[in-house]
Amino acid sequence: MTNIYLIGFMGSGKSSVGKHLSGLLELAFVDTDLLIKDQTNKKIADIFALEGESKFREYETEALASLPTKSCVVATGGGIVETPANVEQMKKSGKIVLLDTSFLTISERLEADRTRPLWNQKKSSQKKLYVKRMELYRTFANIIVSTDGQSIEHIANEIRSRLENE
Ligand code: S3P
Repeated sequence: MTNIYLIGFMGSGKSSVGKHLSGLLELAFVDTDLLIKDQTNKKIADIFALEGESKFREYETEALASLPTKSCVVATGGGIVETPANVEQMKKSGKIVLLDTSFLTISERLEADRTRPLWNQKKSSQKKLYVKRMELYRTFANIIVSTDGQSIEHIANEIRSRLENE
């Protein structure tokens, strides 16, 4: 099976759903943020603070390019679609699945979160980023799954059956 790339905004559940989905499909699970941490030996917040977002995007592209192109469920960082080369890489090696989560749900989930540099900003900037990103995600997704009010198990099952019908 080709790779399955989960895309979506920060806090949309890509890692939790991805882990569950990889179990259902008996595929390996990879999280690009964890891979970046392993490959650089740095924390994501430190990369943003000390080297800047553009350097983080370089690490992200390197991490994605280093993955096998088959048999993985990949939970991506919310900004993976900002780099055209990443989109090309995902398109040519798999299916792109968008976890579509409302701004309200994201805001509730990430209310106390201080680990995500791009979330750690005023509400109007968070919203602006959300709107911009959702437009990009929708452009590139092969499958779109609504996640509000749904359990991780339900979302993973829905992705599995949608993939079967692709
Ligand atoms: C980012 C999302 C984060 C992480 C980094 C940048 C973004 O991943 O890659 O903080 O640009 O939206 P999650 O989507 O897993 O939070």
